[in-house]
Amino acid sequence: MGIAEGRSQLNTEAPIPLIGLGTATSNLNEEEIKAAVTTALQVGYRHFDTASFYRTEHALGEALNSAFQSGIVSREDVFVTTKLANTEHDDPVAAINNSLKNLQLEYVDLYLIHWPVKMRETSTLSQPKEEDFLPLDIKSTWQGMEQCMKMGLSKAIGVSNFSSKKVEDLLSYAKIPPAVDQVEMHPMWQQNRLREYCSKHKIHVSAWSPLGAPNNPWGSNSLMDNPLIQEIAQKHGKTRAQVILRWGIEQGVSVLPKSFNPGRIAENFQIFDWSLSVDDHDKISKLEQCKILPGHQFVNSTTSFYKTVEELWDGEI
Ligand code: A2P
Repeated sequence: MGIAEGRSQLNTEAPIPLIGLGTATSNLNEEEIKAAVTTALQVGYRHFDTASFYRTEHALGEALNSAFQSGIVSREDVFVTTKLANTEHDDPVAAINNSLKNLQLEYVDLYLIHWPVKMRETSTLSQPKEEDFLPLDIKSTWQGMEQCMKMGLSKAIGVSNFSSKKVEDLLSYAKIPPAVDQVEMHPMWQQNRLREYCSKHKIHVSAWSPLGAPNNPWGSNSLMDNPLIQEIAQKHGKTRAQVILRWGIEQGVSVLPKSFNPGRIAENFQIFDWSLSVDDHDKISKLEQCKILPGHQFVNSTTSFYKTVEELWDGEI
């Protein structure tokens, strides 16, 4: 399996499509989310990424179920990922059951620990306060994740926003190794060290915000506006987003761009019938690195498990 098939293979042997539609949004308009998923299915996407925290599981489930009912796709044709929220570490089985209910599915293809962070149920997740943080015990969370897989509620389990060190710690006690680490990754945050580690241990990497979240208050236009990306796009007669996403799949990761615009959803999928040159890769590899979303909201000097962002990422920042 590879780029020609548009899929990679997880350590569970299940295929994972190399492009998925991300569904995190600050605009929780169910109809718009359903429309985006329906467009994506029509143009060929078979991979959808959501999370309990995004509150888009219900809309995604509605769109998928109407596609199943009208015979556009069957359940086996789509790869669905959701994530355990920071407030759900105490009981992953209850959490995934809640997600499955929202999604109207019997199983997900992948269930991830969203962040290596544990918070009180009542927390404001996007802007946590000091009193929201709880001590973290990833080992016990992971046992709950393993239970989800054993019960058939998820076909694979994994993590998100874990550094190489955190994955290494997890591997030291996991009975089921993680299949995926989903992290911020794009040409300006290439994650070379993490990807090398994951590849050695047969852990697939998925890239969130593969475009750098342009035009979003939490993101940046610096990647899309980078002159090198513009130059390469012009040379190939492709858009900047296509160059960035193609770079991602040529690195062996799956990319999860978000869009609620039908034209851009279709555009982002057109990355399979052309390629970047060795020279393009060489130039992109030299781009200055800058993590766009460092996770400052999960760090404080008093109650958080992490006193600094360096601790959150174990120095990989
Ligand atoms: P829109 O929904 O208007 O298309 P990321 O996936 O890196 O977090 O980026 C998400 C943002 O990128 C969304 O706000 C989306 O806006 C925008 N976007 C997605 N695809 C493209 C594209 N092909 N060209 C320009 N902007 C895009």
